[in-house]
Amino acid sequence: MKVLVINGSPRKNRGSTGGILSHFVEGMKEAHAEIDVIFSEGLDLGDCRGCFNCWTSTPGKCIQDDEMVPVLEKIDNADIVVIATPVYVDGMTGSLKTLLDWTIPLLHGAFELRDDHCRHALREHVKPGKFALVSVCGFTEMDNFDPLITHVKAISKNMNREFLGSVLRPYAWIFDPAQKQGADIGDILDAVKEAGRQLVSNGKMDQATLATIAREIIPRDQVIQLMQQSFGEK
Ligand SMILES: Cc1cc2nc3c(=O)[nH]c(=O)nc-3n(C[C@H](O)[C@H](O)[C@H](O)COP(=O)(O)O)c2cc1C
Repeated sequence: MKVLVINGSPRKNRGSTGGILSHFVEGMKEAHAEIDVIFSEGLDLGDCRGCFNCWTSTPGKCIQDDEMVPVLEKIDNADIVVIATPVYVDGMTGSLKTLLDWTIPLLHGAFELRDDHCRHALREHVKPGKFALVSVCGFTEMDNFDPLITHVKAISKNMNREFLGSVLRPYAWIFDPAQKQGADIGDILDAVKEAGRQLVSNGKMDQATLATIAREIIPRDQVIQLMQQSFGEK
């Protein structure tokens, strides 16, 4: 099974997204998946210009010479695409959204009806695959992920890919010794690895495993105090 992980964190492997992903990838590897990790940050993409040439004069190809061609090939060939991003202003990061804008050449421009809803058909060469989400956020509540989950589920539908579920870690400062206050997070990291293994082996992740990943490590009042100490203006 081929898995493409797209890490949308500007901090790449140094951030919480990268920290969670390293354990998730380990689990997927243990389940014998072939993993490719790419970063949206640093790709020389610019914005999609909305010219629709990829649907008209050069079907399936962008008229701009860009770094997206190999990325589209990877998406094309992946059984599972894992979208990984920190929550930024209640959604995904800008570089990840830009990358996803550039996936339009994978679709036909013409509309078709699927589930009584207008969609674009996938181009014939695009492998029907699946999507999963890995995300972290700074606040403590799970509803901070709601807009992002809604967005990624909509993208999955439009790309005709089944959505397999989300690995979500709120209060993601768990790799920062000062912010985790000595809390033991071993079970969380083990659960992230287990979720990766489950995703590849079972095509879904257990609710109990996902709940362990999201569990509280410090009471919310204490989190607020810690954040005041770290970011409160003097
Ligand atoms: C520009 C920006 C916007 C953010 N917006 C949110 C937000 O809307 N909700 C939230 O819970 N955390 C928010 N955060 C916190 C990040 O999700 C959190 O710091 C995360 O761990 C960063 O992931 P990384 O270490 O992989 O970069 C924001 C951080 C930044 C820098």
